[in-house]
Amino acid sequence: MGSGPSRPTLLVVGEAPGKTEDEGGEPFIGRSGQLLFKLIEEEVGITRADCFVTNIAKCRPPNNRPPTAKECEACRPWLLEQLDSLSPDAVLSVGNTATRQLFGVSEGISTIHGQRFELNGVSGIATYHPAAGLRSPNSVIPMIREDLRILKSQLSLA
Ligand code: URA
Repeated sequence: MGSGPSRPTLLVVGEAPGKTEDEGGEPFIGRSGQLLFKLIEEEVGITRADCFVTNIAKCRPPNNRPPTAKECEACRPWLLEQLDSLSPDAVLSVGNTATRQLFGVSEGISTIHGQRFELNGVSGIATYHPAAGLRSPNSVIPMIREDLRILKSQLSLA
């Protein structure tokens, strides 16, 4: 379902658990997560301990495929319940799937990253998935850093 403090600064929402997360029972504990929280720490000045970390789809889809819209929709009540009970200062949505499902937009992440959204009264921002940062570090990591700086300045975090 997710892990983190009961009053987080940031609610981080990814796509779905991968193999490592499925086995470990916690989101973003593999290489993607290590990169993401390194960048959050460097750019926003908060650590994983300040974040509640979850995914739009709570179960790992077979063969590592992205979760379908129907699967995300089925998990949405859990996410909205988490948003309500955790009351984070902000939401960070990572990657196409989470961002489209979370904020109800149809554009791709390359168009909408860095933009501000609202979800049930909480401000949110979208950025690239850190897996894309691992695949194309030179082009993607600077954009994730810039989005995180926007998050920090717009939402007055840390
Ligand atoms: N990728 C995600 O989107 N979520 C995880 O928990 C792990 C990898």
